[in-house]
Amino acid sequence: MTTLDPNLPANSKKRTPVRVGIIGTGGMANVHAERFRANPGVRVVAGVDVDLDRARIFAEKHEIPHVYTSVTDLLASGTVDAVSIVTPDAFHAPISLQVLRKGRHVLCEKPLALNYPDAMKMVAAAKKAGVVHMVNFSYRDWPAIQAVAAAVRRGDIGEVVHVEASYLQAWLPSKVWGDWRTTPALLWRLSTQHGSKGVLGDVGVHIVDFATYPVGPIKEVYARLKAFPKAPGDRVGDYGLDANDSAVINVEFANGALGVIHTSRWVAGHPNRLFLKIAGTKGTVEIDSDKSTTSYRVCRGKNLDTATWQEVQAKPVPTNYERFITAIRKGVTGDPDFVRGAEIQKVLDACIESDAARLPVKI
Ligand SMILES: NC(=O)c1ccc[n+]([C@@H]2O[C@H](COP(=O)([O-])OP(=O)(O)OC[C@H]3O[C@@H](n4cnc5c(N)ncnc54)[C@H](O)[C@@H]3O)[C@@H](O)[C@H]2O)c1
Repeated sequence: MTTLDPNLPANSKKRTPVRVGIIGTGGMANVHAERFRANPGVRVVAGVDVDLDRARIFAEKHEIPHVYTSVTDLLASGTVDAVSIVTPDAFHAPISLQVLRKGRHVLCEKPLALNYPDAMKMVAAAKKAGVVHMVNFSYRDWPAIQAVAAAVRRGDIGEVVHVEASYLQAWLPSKVWGDWRTTPALLWRLSTQHGSKGVLGDVGVHIVDFATYPVGPIKEVYARLKAFPKAPGDRVGDYGLDANDSAVINVEFANGALGVIHTSRWVAGHPNRLFLKIAGTKGTVEIDSDKSTTSYRVCRGKNLDTATWQEVQAKPVPTNYERFITAIRKGVTGDPDFVRGAEIQKVLDACIESDAARLPVKI
């Protein structure tokens, strides 16, 4: 593993910047570039995309000196200590394995892989390489979820018994994010042929992480997944529109709590809403991202009998991008790591199996 002056303070001029390459220079890559460039301990040195023009425009926009059209060329250049993988989902596993073989640190977009066996290959390769490996469950960056996790773990609401979690998006019945019929970054998300696991793999992965982070692991799922008709012949050009766009999952957590987790791209009025309600024997906590991502609501203690809710402000927290760089400096992998990514992948695989069999599936 590269040593990058772990003992120097973050703002030390003597500090060697971590050199990051961004693989896949589409929509989400802009967030990676902006967040890394805001960190004085990082230099974004390369952008990689199979589409050279896109990579060039991206590099110019973010003042990135090098551009490549293949990961092989990036790795051969010797210019990077770490990479962010921001390609469509189907390429996360093969690119991670290639990068890990060369001993570079990896921040991989979600979902970690297309299935649990591939995710476990990534875990094994990351451990063998001895590098930092993280998956970008980006809502961990919200102060509210960190504060709720801490509150639940310290027993503020007693024993957890009931959980309601949802991730709603609006881009199928609306043009809130542009017209999906003509937007490749939305069309590949609708097509299993293009490696999509539907809304379940795209954002269901986030809400499963969001719910289990405070509550703990899931032991059983009973899921229904559905793709609704949306275009003549369920097709737009090369894209067969067969990936699920609504998912409803009944779950039982390892601690015995029951829950419902659901997600859909059909919910007009909610461009990107995460909702989490955790009810325990002594109270309830709630996050509604349409209202706030920096505070949560709680009903407990003296407020129980009047059903009064209290708003609690949460402390700022470091982003995944910051935690990734800190982990590289410390030489200890950060959370959420590939092990966590694989754990969530296992839940998604169980949902797909449950839907196909119309039966509950144990994790
Ligand atoms: N964590 C989050 O909140 C979040 C948000 C949005 C997207 N994402 C994830 O980011 C990833 C990218 O999503 P997006 O919306 O930016 O997609 P996008 O289609 O806008 O961009 C993907 C880019 O990858 C390029 N690409 C494809 N195959 C490649 C390869 N083999 N090597 C190099 N480049 C390749 C494409 O040409 C394209 O420019 C997805 O996995 C998605 O799930 C995560």
